[in-house]
Amino acid sequence: MTHLITNIKELIGITSKPILIGDEMKLLPTIKDAFLVIEDGLISDYGSMKDVPASHFDKITNASGALVLPSWCDSHTHIVYAGNREQEFVDRINGLSYEEIAKRGGGILNSAKKLQETSEDDLYEQSAKRLEEVMLLGTGAIEIKSGYGLTTEAELKMLRVIKRLKQNYPIAIKATFLGAHAIPSNFAKKSDKYIDLLIQEMLPQIAAEELADYIDVFCETGYFTVDETIKLMQAGKEFGLKSKIHVNQFTAIGGIRAAVENGALSVDHLEVILPEDIEMLKKGATIPVALPSCSYFLSIPYTPARELMNAQLPLALATDYNPGSTPSGNMNFVVATACIKMKMTPEEAINAATINGAAAMELSQTHGSIAKGKVANLIFTKPIPSYGFLPYSFGSNHIDKVMLLGKFI
Ligand code: NIG
Ligand code: FE
Repeated sequence: MTHLITNIKELIGITSKPILIGDEMKLLPTIKDAFLVIEDGLISDYGSMKDVPASHFDKITNASGALVLPSWCDSHTHIVYAGNREQEFVDRINGLSYEEIAKRGGGILNSAKKLQETSEDDLYEQSAKRLEEVMLLGTGAIEIKSGYGLTTEAELKMLRVIKRLKQNYPIAIKATFLGAHAIPSNFAKKSDKYIDLLIQEMLPQIAAEELADYIDVFCETGYFTVDETIKLMQAGKEFGLKSKIHVNQFTAIGGIRAAVENGALSVDHLEVILPEDIEMLKKGATIPVALPSCSYFLSIPYTPARELMNAQLPLALATDYNPGSTPSGNMNFVVATACIKMKMTPEEAINAATINGAAAMELSQTHGSIAKGKVANLIFTKPIPSYGFLPYSFGSNHIDKVMLLGKFI
């Protein structure tokens, strides 16, 4: 099946590089007045309209002046959860902090209780709705974490839901085991016993059922220490799981060094970052990931994007969609907020939300840019003057149509 798209006002994000680093992020290659050819769901050709091929196509779509860009690659989410935490949102408005709410047994433990009481089918339905929502907002590849189960049974339930989502939707999905998201209350002051449970009971079952691509740890004061994080990363490695680590959200305790030294694929959050953390990142291949919607929702600092990019590091942007710190999965808002609050240029933000997001999920061979042989996962905009208008005119939905694997959804 061949499909020709004509009259694209601007075809955006053309690159075959697997990741963009530092100054490379400033460039967003495009072709104005372009065509694109899709063959069996893959991009097979593109170029300027004056060179449009004259051959026969099974289908022709006139893009009528839309901008076309690669769909968003959201490399950090927790979209499998039960219910919501609207009450904690109101509690925070009334003066409590995120940390204070967690100390009272709210927070992640609150979500875990709800999830443990929810059936797998109900959890699937709630999560599928969120997945469909973000697909319509232009996300074409997504990472989804467990971590609201915190018992073997409930963690497996979450990961099985992610597996079902993988089977039933055209979006690319990577699954991450985040059993080390919080210490359950029955393990309070016995975190070593919980780590044993994660390593000796959960990990082998998850590996046997092939339920996870990565392992994650919430490395943070009051959650998991650097030593515990190292232990879990190493245990994950034994089962073939690379790590993606929650680190430096509230405090800088040395988690970045541990992650880089253990070959983590990414370190995510980084709202609080020390000069030595940046030096450490320069020594390894671990990708920093910023989550600006989380900073927005919790009113905490934004990841210092400019410092990271000036250090010639790559940077990816993701939503962190979850019930507690970021109840939003809108990558368009992430891109706008990165520009408005983190002073990223539109080019840098779009690169961070596409090709670098794909790299943070090891998907850059197939996703994240316009290149021959990559899947046709594309965003078609409504009539807008230029790509910079996307973050400039924040809060409006500029997406007209979304294509995944060559088909409009
Ligand atoms: O990435 N920081 C840890 N985990 C999530 C939030 C968890 C929650 O509050 O439910 C995050 O922000
Ligand atoms: Fe998170």
